[in-house]
Order: sequence, then C-alpha cells, then structure tokens
Amino acid sequence: MTEPSPLPKGTQPEGARNQQEASRQVREMFTRIAPRYDLLNHLLSAQMDRLWRARAAEELKPILERPDARVLDLCCGTGDLAFALQRKAKARILGADFSHPMLVRAREKALAANDVAPIPFLEADALRLPFSEGSFDLVTSAFGFRNLANYADGLKEIFRVLKPGGTLGILEFAEPAPGLLGDTYRFYTRTVLPKIGGWISGDSAAYAYLPKSVARFFRPEEFASLLKEVGYGNVRFHLMTLGSVALHLAVRP
Ligand SMILES: C[S@@+](CC[C@H](N)C(=O)[O-])C[C@H]1O[C@@H](n2cnc3c(N)ncnc32)[C@H](O)[C@@H]1O
Repeated sequence: MTEPSPLPKGTQPEGARNQQEASRQVREMFTRIAPRYDLLNHLLSAQMDRLWRARAAEELKPILERPDARVLDLCCGTGDLAFALQRKAKARILGADFSHPMLVRAREKALAANDVAPIPFLEADALRLPFSEGSFDLVTSAFGFRNLANYADGLKEIFRVLKPGGTLGILEFAEPAPGLLGDTYRFYTRTVLPKIGGWISGDSAAYAYLPKSVARFFRPEEFASLLKEVGYGNVRFHLMTLGSVALHLAVRP
C-alpha cells in the first residue's frame, strides 16, 4: 500500500534548505520575471487569468461595494487582482508584495489606467505584515499564496489582520481530476508551458517551478481543512476551468 504524500508546510523551490532560503528564492524568481510577468500570464492562460480574477471580484462584490470597507490584496504582483477588485469597489484597496520590481510595474499600471483611482502598493512580506490586528474587512490573494514558505503561518497572519467577521478570498491553482481533459491540461502545464515561459522570459527555472509548485500544493479539500484548523469559519471553495483553479473563501469568526 502506498503512503499518502505528506501535506506541504510551505513552498520548496529546488535546493532551498529552509524557509528563509525558500522565501528568498521565491522573491528573487519573481523579481527576475517581473518584466515579462503580465505578458506571460495572459498568453499562457489564454487570457483565462482575467476571467478568474473577475469571477473572484464578482463573488466579493458585497464587501467591495461598502465605502467603509478596507481591503488588502496580498502577493499582489503587478496588481491585476487589485485592479479587478477596484472596478467593483467603493472600498479602499491596498496592494502588498515583497518583490520590488513587481510593485514598480503595479504602480506604473495604476498611473496609466484612468478608469481606476490609484491604489497604494507597498512592499511587505505576507508572513510579517506591517498592519495591526483587525485592520481589514477583506484580504485577498491571487496565485501568490502557494509561494509562501509557511502556509499555516500565512493563514494565521491573514487571520490576525482581518477584523472579526472579515473575509479571506484566495485564488489558487489546483490539479484537475484525471481524465482526457485533466490529463491534457497536465501535459500542457508540465511540458508546454515551461518551454514557452522559459523561452519568452529567459528563465526556464521559474516556469518549471510553476507546475511543480501547483502539484505540491494542497488539494482544495485539504486547504479547506487547514483553514478550519487555523480557526476560520464559513470555509468553502468554488472550482473553475476543469478544476484547475479554486477560489477559497473563509471568514474570521
Ligand atoms: C504568481 S504572482 C501573482 C501576482 C498577482 N496576484 C496576480 O494575480 O497576477 C505571485 C506573487 O506573490 C509574491 N509573493 C510570494 N511570496 C510572498 C511573500 N511571502 N510576501 C509577499 N509577496 C509574496 C511574489 O513576489 C509574486 O509577485
């Protein structure tokens, strides 16, 4: 009988010996690919990434429409989820990421867009947030959480900065179920995507990391259990696009 693989504690890029090294490698990797990040995101997902963020924003609309609500988009990268949330929002939105070049790009996009009010983007590590307890009504993250060096600590830190009654919304990749479509998707993400990503970005290691980190991450049901263990309530998730993306929702009681 084969043992089930142990649940991951945090991301583990190749060669990282501890959490500090994992975190540094992740930051350096996103810093390297920042100039081509948006182009590759849209290209490799055939623009589906826009749809996933729009769907998350739609789901979170009741909070975003409140003018008094404060929202933090964590691991915001070049800001695309923050911008998608802003389109629905009267709430005040803030973006945070620990890769400086990603934030520079986010700020440039915020200045260039004339349909959205400028969003403040600040440099911060998701595992040590510079906010006091109970600061936000909503904390979101799109495709960033999987890269944290410690998942339980990340969820606890989000819990800390959420107000009681505040909502967590995490978009993450998942592995589609076996079958023709799921297997084709896996072939694409494991074989085709790293080649195109490596070729265009000039960083094949970064685009080889992507499918490996998705395969290592929790299944949506496992992630829901971790959320409950940490103390979140009203835990649920919605799957999209053959189960390749999950929107996880939970509330700080
Ligand atoms: C795949 S990108 C996602 C960016 C954006 N949310 C989007 O939807 O395109 C992951 C981002 O997470 C950031 N990140 C990873 N670990 C982080 C941490 N511990 N603290 C802050 N940002 C982190 C990276 O710098 C990177 O910009």
